[in-house]
Amino acid sequence: MSDFLEISPEQLTGNPFQQIGSDWMLVTAGNKNQLNTMTASWGSLGVMWNLPVAQIVIRPQRYTREFIDAEAAFSLSFLSERYRRQLNYLGTVSGRDGDKIHHSGLTTAAVEGIPYICEADQVLFCKVLYRQLMNPACFAQPDVIRPFYPERDYHIAYTARITKVFERPAASIWT
Ligand SMILES: Cc1cc2nc3c(=O)[nH]c(=O)nc-3n(C[C@H](O)[C@H](O)[C@H](O)COP(=O)(O)O)c2cc1C
Repeated sequence: MSDFLEISPEQLTGNPFQQIGSDWMLVTAGNKNQLNTMTASWGSLGVMWNLPVAQIVIRPQRYTREFIDAEAAFSLSFLSERYRRQLNYLGTVSGRDGDKIHHSGLTTAAVEGIPYICEADQVLFCKVLYRQLMNPACFAQPDVIRPFYPERDYHIAYTARITKVFERPAASIWT
């Protein structure tokens, strides 16, 4: 990651509502033989067990989930607006049906075995600490269930320690 600068999670100054909810991110997981990525726009950054963490929510049927579970690790790659078309593509097509990363034109590399998207402006590397399948009985507002879970494919929520953060100094998206 010679084009990137390593910073600490505490140095992040951006707005996660914008970055995750509006700009979206790519969740990438796997190993040197096989990996996959998918677009995500739900998640959060914060503190848990005194550690900097990212939380993501992944539906059980996502191919990417198999890689997250196998490696207990993933990266979150944040790309600039000019990659919106690729983010849409990677969020509509499944890696089960072909080499979608190759078709998107994006490229990958790895840090300490965790793959990431080279075209990103910022990358968070995360190790899974906890995961839990959402239980419909636990929704305090059952109204949430109807619009989001007609297929009853409740998300798996992952809480992961942010172990490394890299960003491109020239194109910092958090300042
Ligand atoms: C903008 C956007 C946001 C998405 N956010 C999520 C998400 O947070 N969690 C999730 O499970 N799927 C989400 N998806 C759907 C997956 O990205 C999509 O199903 C993808 O094709 C899964 O790829 P895979 O089967 O190769 O893992 C989102 C899709 C888009 C376009």
